[in-house]
Amino acid sequence: MLTEYLSGQIEKLAQRDDLPLHRKLYEALRRAILDGKLTAGHRLPASRELAHDLQLSRNTVVSALNQLNVEGLLTSHVGRGTFVSDRPVLKTARRQSPQVSQDTKLSKRGQKILTTFCAGQLEIYPFTSGIVDFSAFPVALWRRLQQKHWRMAYPDMLDYSYSGGHAPLRNAVASYLRVFRNMTVDTEQVIITSGTQQSLELCAQTLADLDEAVWIEDPAYWGAVKAFMATGLRLHPVAVDEHGLAPQSLSEAPPPRLIYVTPSHQYPTGVVMPLARRQEILAIARRHKAWILEDDYDSEFRFSGPSIEALAALDTDQRVLYMGSFSKVPYPGLKLGYLVVPRGLAAPLNQAHYDLNRPGQIPLQAALAEFIEMGHFTTALRDARQSYADRRRCLLDALKLCLGALAYISGADQGLHLCVNLPDAVDDKALAQRIGALGLTVRALSAYCVHRRDLRGIVIGYGYASLAEIELHGPILAQTFRAELARLAYEPKPLAHDEHQRPIFRT
Ligand SMILES: Cc1ncc(COP(=O)(O)O)c(C=O)c1O
Repeated sequence: MLTEYLSGQIEKLAQRDDLPLHRKLYEALRRAILDGKLTAGHRLPASRELAHDLQLSRNTVVSALNQLNVEGLLTSHVGRGTFVSDRPVLKTARRQSPQVSQDTKLSKRGQKILTTFCAGQLEIYPFTSGIVDFSAFPVALWRRLQQKHWRMAYPDMLDYSYSGGHAPLRNAVASYLRVFRNMTVDTEQVIITSGTQQSLELCAQTLADLDEAVWIEDPAYWGAVKAFMATGLRLHPVAVDEHGLAPQSLSEAPPPRLIYVTPSHQYPTGVVMPLARRQEILAIARRHKAWILEDDYDSEFRFSGPSIEALAALDTDQRVLYMGSFSKVPYPGLKLGYLVVPRGLAAPLNQAHYDLNRPGQIPLQAALAEFIEMGHFTTALRDARQSYADRRRCLLDALKLCLGALAYISGADQGLHLCVNLPDAVDDKALAQRIGALGLTVRALSAYCVHRRDLRGIVIGYGYASLAEIELHGPILAQTFRAELARLAYEPKPLAHDEHQRPIFRT
């Protein structure tokens, strides 16, 4: 019966020459699920059987099933089969980058912000970097905490938030950083913001003048690039090598007013900045009287290797502004983060934050403070760490098993993404698109590059993908890379023993 229904649906799409066969099958299955013809828990025939009955190739069937898996309409269990899922359906519409026409009313700066890689290409899909799993978040507890603070809300809590945010939350952040990041922080140094994006903008608006130079990493986090563009600073991309931002690659660089870095887990390559390089960056900042903006976006998730001290913990000159976010835990839409500033900047930056941003949301900040004080944050972190560690292991195993020494994987010791570095000959954007056609959304490393043209790779996130999804799709990703390398007849150069640990980065 299922076969007849699917054949009928595929037949109806016969005129759609623009749709490949796997897409037609995908549409047919999707319709069957959304119309309730296939209900939650229904076991689908094996792909081989389905391919035989529908007289399609197995690849076509696997491709359609993969896409439905990724969208959460199907779940696959190794050895048990593929079932119609009872998970809520994910939003599948891809957000397109806006088309910016010549006669637009936007300023040149506005047009540049809109046409530079990225926000529009953000997608909530299992292998997209930067996306986290919020399914384990204790929603009921969170609702109770919010209700409690709304019940208690006194007039001040409904006002704008001055003095850097709700004091108990600032306290909780300071204690967390003292314990987990070994930082010497007083509550007065903590400013609650609506996340790293706002922290970056505040620093750019208050610590640099128009057209002054900000050194950024190349490749870079698009959020930082856009924040600096929006505030009219001159961006100076500095190539990243295997130790992070590499100042020696900038022989004629303008002196920086700001230096933006992600030293614990460079975004997107994932490389870690060793102590010597950290000291070098601190010395440069001292020499130029520049400010370092340290974005410590995912240091909560360190899976192997020694723990890495924050630059802010090494800073003896009060030159580092440290940024953290609650976007990974508890969840991104919370839009709360923190900026830790040197003592001498605490009062002026607080005032500027109030003047420029009119911050608020005190009841929400109060609920979060209690969430942290009662230990729920630490528990959520511990659970998330364990769950992400399993996913990371599974993805790494699949990649290493298939690729061996063919490709260097960077950034896998920390965070929620890793990067498979590929040789120059690979068109990584086209490869990412081909992987996308399989229903797996990954990003090309070169898409993050600002000036450089020599980096190729694929950035894979494992934060949102379930273990089952990684078990299923990890080997497919790995085989796709292998096939690409085989197509290019790529032979890795013989490397000295320790060089096997090195990425392909060149500066
Ligand atoms: C490099 C980097 N910094 C910061 C953030 C967090 O930004 P926000 O707090 O604005 O959500 C992210 C989120 O994915 C990130 O990838």
